[in-house]
Amino acid sequence: MFAEALTRLPSQPKPTSVEEHHARQERLAAQFRQDDLLVLASPPHAVHSNDVEYPYRTSSDLIYLTGWTEAESVFVMRYENNGWVSALFVQPKDTLKEIWEGRRPGVEGATADYAVHEAYNNHEIEDRLDVWLNDARRVFHRGGINPELDRLVETAVRRRDRARQHFGTGPVAVEDPSSLLAELRLRKSSSEIEQMVFASKVASIAHELAMRHSREGVTEYQLQSIIEGFFSYAGASGWSYPSIVGCGENATILHYTTNQDVCGDDEVILIDAGAEFRGYASDITRSWPISGRFTDSQREIYQIVLDAQLAAIDACQVGNLYTDPHDAARTVLAEGLIRLGVISQSLDEALDPETGDLRKWYMHNTSHWIGLDVHDAGVYKPGGTPRVLEPGMCLTIEPGLYFGAWRPDVDCPERYANIGIRIEDDVLITTDGPVVLTADCPKSIDDIENIVGQDLA
Ligand code: GLY
Ligand code: MN
Ligand code: MN
Repeated sequence: MFAEALTRLPSQPKPTSVEEHHARQERLAAQFRQDDLLVLASPPHAVHSNDVEYPYRTSSDLIYLTGWTEAESVFVMRYENNGWVSALFVQPKDTLKEIWEGRRPGVEGATADYAVHEAYNNHEIEDRLDVWLNDARRVFHRGGINPELDRLVETAVRRRDRARQHFGTGPVAVEDPSSLLAELRLRKSSSEIEQMVFASKVASIAHELAMRHSREGVTEYQLQSIIEGFFSYAGASGWSYPSIVGCGENATILHYTTNQDVCGDDEVILIDAGAEFRGYASDITRSWPISGRFTDSQREIYQIVLDAQLAAIDACQVGNLYTDPHDAARTVLAEGLIRLGVISQSLDEALDPETGDLRKWYMHNTSHWIGLDVHDAGVYKPGGTPRVLEPGMCLTIEPGLYFGAWRPDVDCPERYANIGIRIEDDVLITTDGPVVLTADCPKSIDDIENIVGQDLA
């Protein structure tokens, strides 16, 4: 089953080059003063259970600037001799450790294959930071990622209190570099887009395979295993967020991840699952009838959500506001529900964020940025004003309608009881209009009805 599906996948794109990582570092440093120091830590391992850790995922900022993904690393940028110097502190080579835990690039590997001018054994971080801090006035460091490094930076800065008082030297401020990095990460390069296209294609095929294996009695976890199995088979590192696989009333729970129920023939299943490839996320939701044929009531809701999604994608134009797709989606959803008699308010009343009835059935946003993080870095409303869309920005478009008959807070229309539909694609903003990165994933009613339950292996 997977081998045949794999033939539809293009070959993997080239990884982002060392030159591009250097250029990203330079773009960041262009916003620094010469007496600034940047210190970025990898997060610590997270414990799963006794002696067992979760698979390691480093910080997206580190991947963005260096491509380096190992734990117990610290990245530093400082100005020295007329230029910015980047340094990486890494786990040193250690045969005994490598026998147990896997090969390490070490100091030599870091400088040979990654965008850093210098690399050091991570045991040297304290001493070297101490020296470099002497010349720094402002330290860019994001607290809360790695408590050990937080302590180190704080102690090193405090140690200079006397020097600051006596001689006016030493760092006077610790600032968070996240917003500077977020601004860079918001506009994707062609290499980043190539990685995202691949992650999107893997996820699109995975969703189609799950559609093909849907039938009465299939379980949510079986469909999850097909999707996540294909992610791995196709060379993705895994999921970009835990898969949401919910049929029947579970489809009306926005972030349902229990995935343990058996699917009934009369139910709609909602699957929100994305693959991660070289750190880049995809994020797709599709909803389909387990039987392979939409009932009239399921079809009515699906068509409204699809129309809303297409209208929102149309609004993904250079120069439009980040909020335009959301407004477009909400308008189509409200019009549809008024037409069906679910909402008895006027359109304006239905859309009112405080008192409108649309929010009973559509209670989330239509978009988020997507990139190295599935909910990617980037301020949505700088200074309180919605961001203007620019080429290279990537966002999801994911309207939905959720009729949870189990909810005590609403009077769910009987006809639509426990129908949950979300349709989500990942969209790149270009001067030629929106490009749907996840366009390979079946979405029209006809395509879905032709695919669901077909070609069971
Ligand atoms: N999968 C989470 C989201 O769609 O935002
Ligand atoms: Mn999403
Ligand atoms: Mn999603």
